[in-house]
Amino acid sequence: MRILVLHGPNLNLLGRREPEIYGRTTLAEIEEELRRLGRELGVEIESRQSNHEGDLVDWVQEAEGEFAGILLNPAAYTHTSVALRDAIAGVGVPVVEVHLSNPAAREEFRHVSYVAPVVIGTVAGFGKESYLLGLRALVGYLKAH
Ligand code: DQA
Repeated sequence: MRILVLHGPNLNLLGRREPEIYGRTTLAEIEEELRRLGRELGVEIESRQSNHEGDLVDWVQEAEGEFAGILLNPAAYTHTSVALRDAIAGVGVPVVEVHLSNPAAREEFRHVSYVAPVVIGTVAGFGKESYLLGLRALVGYLKAH
């Protein structure tokens, strides 16, 4: 079983980007932990990051038939992207949304997620653990369906 992990804009800066909010863990460290957990769960992980909305839309579309599910941190596009939401709604690939911080406890513009209505579920607020919990939840869902 192959799982695609997608990271949205500015997540390449993790480790030095607003560490009081996002912590000191780098994206490479998160990806390494996901690969380790993936081995434990018996799934193969492929991770990609982009600062460009269209890349994320393309990757969601291309995942159909290639990946069993997608673990997605849309970052700022969570709160703006109808295109990303439509891509998720348009393909039959189950998606779990994850966030390091808890957007609901932050500025008002972060309270709306455009993708939340079209994903299986969301894990937010647990730092890098959000990704690991999200991967467990996604794989559990896929094994049950
Ligand atoms: C984020 C939360 C978003 O509001 C923000 O724009 C990000 C990161 C998170 O992981 O906490 O870039 O998705």
